[in-house]
Amino acid sequence: MKIAVIGTGYVGLVSGVCFSEIGNQVICVDNDPSKVDMLRNGEIPIYEPGLQALVKNNAAKGMLSFTTDIGKAVRNSEIIIIAVGTPSLPNGEANLSYIEQVAKEIGTVMVGYKIVVTKSTVPVGTNYKVKEWISELTDHSFDIVSIPEFLREGTAVKDTLFPDRVVIGIDNPRVIEPLLDLHRSLTDNIVITDIRSSEMIKYASNAFLATKISFINEIANICEKVGADVTKVAEGMGYDKRIGHSFLQAGIGYGGSCFPKDTEALIQIAGNVNYEFKLLKSVVEVNKDQRFNVIHKLESALGTLNGRRIGIWGLAFKPNTDDVRDAPAIDIIKALVKRGAYVQAYDPIATDNFRLALDGSEIKWSKSAMEAAEGCDAICLLTEWSEFAEIELTDLASVMKHPIMIDGRNVYGPKEIENSPFIYYSVGRPNLN
Ligand code: UGA
Repeated sequence: MKIAVIGTGYVGLVSGVCFSEIGNQVICVDNDPSKVDMLRNGEIPIYEPGLQALVKNNAAKGMLSFTTDIGKAVRNSEIIIIAVGTPSLPNGEANLSYIEQVAKEIGTVMVGYKIVVTKSTVPVGTNYKVKEWISELTDHSFDIVSIPEFLREGTAVKDTLFPDRVVIGIDNPRVIEPLLDLHRSLTDNIVITDIRSSEMIKYASNAFLATKISFINEIANICEKVGADVTKVAEGMGYDKRIGHSFLQAGIGYGGSCFPKDTEALIQIAGNVNYEFKLLKSVVEVNKDQRFNVIHKLESALGTLNGRRIGIWGLAFKPNTDDVRDAPAIDIIKALVKRGAYVQAYDPIATDNFRLALDGSEIKWSKSAMEAAEGCDAICLLTEWSEFAEIELTDLASVMKHPIMIDGRNVYGPKEIENSPFIYYSVGRPNLN
């Protein structure tokens, strides 16, 4: 099939590349010429394992190309996928201005019948707005389809080529066959539904996963007080197939470009129809507080943080990405600086992005995990990059002023801690020293 993907952010780029990988002719469009140039040269603007090789291979095979020319891309394609951003407005609502702009451009340039798919995460009803925006500017016929994206950063290629499910929201049955053809090779779990339900599935899925995380984080906080071990509690709960093991890892809360934005947006969507989503509001509140437990633990270990040297391991919102959007590390480091601490931070790949996000604060950016720990009163592990688990704790202690660790991700086990000089605080586990 001939596909145009508009927007080469995470969702657009990965989807476009993966559709070309399974045999479609894909043209990706972006209005940023420097991004398009980069992609044409086989460089990718995001860090995503496995993506660059697929870009190069499929471009070399002539199955994948990049352009700033939306008109050419739309006219030459049967399926147009909208994958531009829907960032939060100050009130939490999704900003639909990029979607509107793209829809209107499609309406202006399209010739002949098209299937217009929205993959961006959009509030319920948005696809019908897309329909109106396009209809206002064209007499050609088209159908709108909602196909939300469920990929995770860091495993985006795998999630796209081997998804748990594909959801297709339609309002005209004639699109079913071509869209089944497009997705059949990816999974047997294809849910065909109406457009509003499809839009809701995306928000409900992210809200549910966020709820699991806040739930287990609160259980962890209680475990700390009653002397139980949240990792065992989660293991014991997870064998119940109705509960499952995933997303029950207690820590410092969720970050990233999706859960924080989509939970706020769903609260707004409910609010707009006079429904107060009380449960989700609590999920968000629990998540906002959870990251500050790192500060409370540091204070209980060191007393005042004024003048203390604190090492930070991990700045990305999770491992295997350089994305720092809404990373817990941002709030934690700001709180440390506010309390007069000196911060030395290290991340394997996210430092440059983080530096921009934290504009102005005086932080020492370290080139290695050991360098970030040098002379520190305590080290805080905020992202569970695998290299941290491999560090020899006795060596680590030897470069620090005090061997104190706040492990926000429960990376170390009892054996490593028992045999180390560390005073060790983790999340929801009894004191391991
Ligand atoms: C999330 C969803 O998992 C994807 O299905 C969805 O497509 C995506 O949002 C989106 O809407 O675009 P992502 O934000 O890439 O994907 O990352 P996750 O792996 O879901 O992690 C989100 C956050 O939750 C991270 O900060 C992670 O550290 C945290 N988390 C995750 C926990 O604290 N505990 C867990 O058990 C799992």
